[in-house]
Amino acid sequence: MALRFISAEEAAGYINHDDVVGFSGFTPAGSVKSIPVAIGEKAKAEHALGRPFKIGVITGASTGDSLDGSLARAEAVKFRTPYQSNPDLRNLINAGKADYFDSHLSVVGQNIRYGFLGKMNWGIIEACDVTEQGEIVLTTGVGISPTICKVADKILIELNSYHPKALRGMHDIIIVADPPNRREIPIYKPSDRAGVEVIRVDPSKIAGVVLTNLPDEVGAFTKNDEVTEQIGLNVAEFLSGELKAGRIPSSFLPLQSGVGNIANAVLSALGDHRGIPDFEMYTEVIQDSVIDLMRSGRVKFASGCSLTVSPDMLKSIYSDLDFFHKRIVLRPQEISNSPEVARRIGIISINTAIEADLFGNVNSTNVMGRKMMNGIGGSGDFTRNAYISIFTCPSVAKGGKISAFVPMVSHTDHNEHSVQVIITEQGIADLRSKSPKAKMEAIIKNCVHPDYREALSDYAHLAGDTHTPCTLSAAFGMHMEFEKSGDMRNINWGDCFKR
Ligand code: COA
Repeated sequence: MALRFISAEEAAGYINHDDVVGFSGFTPAGSVKSIPVAIGEKAKAEHALGRPFKIGVITGASTGDSLDGSLARAEAVKFRTPYQSNPDLRNLINAGKADYFDSHLSVVGQNIRYGFLGKMNWGIIEACDVTEQGEIVLTTGVGISPTICKVADKILIELNSYHPKALRGMHDIIIVADPPNRREIPIYKPSDRAGVEVIRVDPSKIAGVVLTNLPDEVGAFTKNDEVTEQIGLNVAEFLSGELKAGRIPSSFLPLQSGVGNIANAVLSALGDHRGIPDFEMYTEVIQDSVIDLMRSGRVKFASGCSLTVSPDMLKSIYSDLDFFHKRIVLRPQEISNSPEVARRIGIISINTAIEADLFGNVNSTNVMGRKMMNGIGGSGDFTRNAYISIFTCPSVAKGGKISAFVPMVSHTDHNEHSVQVIITEQGIADLRSKSPKAKMEAIIKNCVHPDYREALSDYAHLAGDTHTPCTLSAAFGMHMEFEKSGDMRNINWGDCFKR
């Protein structure tokens, strides 16, 4: 069946108020870039005429500004799931103008198939190639695209010539069967493949193809500073100690590493550390640091869901695709983040906390318990199922006015039963096999910033001698102090414990 080439505006014309749309990509990698801008313009025009126009937006994870930014600025988002990091969308969500449900990324595909997210009217997918027989070759991110293509009533394609057709072969596309027919995912090491190279759809489902030539909207990483470098070094020291102690096999175990600047710094430190052997990754996002380490031979193979690299790095990958085809596989997030696979192959997970409490409960999402930052992403998929789960963060935020360690987290994403090790620039708290009181001592001694050590020791002392030392009236005392004076260092426990 002949493909129909249309403009982005014509494609946007098909999308109606209240439609639920599934978008391709994972992070800005593989995210569509021209149709959502046109949908945003359509929304603005509809609003100007006094007509409502909002759509449900389901993606793999975060996207580029052309998608989340355009739709947010047009106030065209009815609901959004499962992860975002766009400032304009974040503001819309925190202003209560868009519903957001934050979800583990591994379950999004199956939740769509189970019908938990309602009917999907449209799928909008970025491809580097599409055939009249309905074969779609994805670009740099896989996300939930296989499920979108399966369940959406109709599909629009952005055929982006920025990405070479020779990307074919880098993807491993599989949709697992749903219960009661699900079988094991046959992946026993990061380089195993379980699926096929392309997504196949009934070509009559493809309503139109929009031609583009646009790079992924991946921002540059902030340069490592003293704090992130020290965190990286501490992670490397910890893992090399585990190796020496025989708790990690000499061949090492696959690493999962989170998103952002700290994750990038940690990977660079692992690459530089002599005590860490060459390793493989079973992760979600493949960032710039992984590619550098691949070139130097330190990373032998990386399995991920997206190639989220800076534009220059992507160009250099495309100029050497034969090398990278042998070392990278991109999978749907249901597989890259699969609890089953993570547990089986024994990944070491390294993710970032916004705040943690004295018992190891971690908040990765909600600032002061109520303002959404990004979302839980894949951190829960990996943390709960890791061989060793690690959280990293600087010991303070906002120039020292906020301690990353508080008596009780203001929101919980990862609880003390899943969090095994916490690492800051101050040091390492190994929480394995420790009681709540012993965890508290390890965290205060090794991870807390010196400015807050006394205050948190005082809290521990005042909270008394019980299984989990906690005084409810004081547990959020540091958060309340920040809201009152703008600086947690002004905490005076006397007031809280007197109540
Ligand atoms: N209170 C208030 N703000 C805090 C804070 C705290 N306790 N801790 C950190 N922040 C702020 C920082 O000041 C910074 O703000 P800014 O953007 O205004 O400068 C922001 O949070 C980001 O912190 P940063 O230290 O730069 O770390 P990051 O870029 O590595 O991001 C997370 C940290 C937690 C937000 C990010 O890793 C995340 O979204 N994680 C959840 C999802 C996830 O783990 N995905 C990976 C799974 S594979």
